[in-house]
Amino acid sequence: MIEKSILREEMKKILGDMDRSSHELMSKIIQAKLFSSNEWKDAQTIGVTISRFPEVDTEGIITRAWEEGKKVAVPKCFPKDKSMNFYYLENFNQLESVYFGLKEPIVSEVELCPKEKLDFILVPGLIFDEKGYRIGFGGGYYDRYLMDYKGYKVSLAFSQQLLKRVPTDHYDIPVHKIVTNEAVYDCIIRK
Ligand SMILES: Nc1ncnc2c1ncn2[C@@H]1O[C@H](COP(=O)(O)OP(=O)(O)OP(=O)(O)O)[C@@H](O)[C@H]1O
Ligand SMILES: [Mg+2]
Repeated sequence: MIEKSILREEMKKILGDMDRSSHELMSKIIQAKLFSSNEWKDAQTIGVTISRFPEVDTEGIITRAWEEGKKVAVPKCFPKDKSMNFYYLENFNQLESVYFGLKEPIVSEVELCPKEKLDFILVPGLIFDEKGYRIGFGGGYYDRYLMDYKGYKVSLAFSQQLLKRVPTDHYDIPVHKIVTNEAVYDCIIRK
């Protein structure tokens, strides 16, 4: 959808202009809100991507999860069929850099995490609205993976990433909760 791609480019520019120190500070604020949520407290296994600037930093989330005895699973994308799977990550040495500096688990060193084991997934995205709809990075990997996912879906975002309304396609799946540096949105799930 052309509208989504225009919005993506605009948002990438806005976020890329953020200075490193405020990016770090805002990430910490967002993380603290996540850690105080019931979903976090109750979760035994969380699915999370390895963030790259200017996304909300997730490294602190992963280390915190390990400290609290939670299991962490990170995704690997398979471009051939646009599928994705999560693998249990036990340390950062089990990661390798793939395309565009994206970090993914080294499959020979990690174990597959079945979808039903994920208590919640931190769903990445560039733009969100209060209904929980999201514009991701355009691969449709999450839209596909979440189709039959029954667990909780949370997104982390800087407040600039929230729009009044996000254009959606029929295959877009909303998240339950959005945590920003300014607010926590419990999104209305239609259908
Ligand atoms: N459930 C699905 N089955 C098949 N194709 C899908 C599905 N969901 C999305 N797609 C395809 O994926 C492409 C990208 O979709 P979209 O622009 O919504 O990506 P996105 O939501 O930004 O990406 P992501 O889900 O990885 O965050 C679209 O061309 C769409 O046709
Ligand atoms: Mg989508």
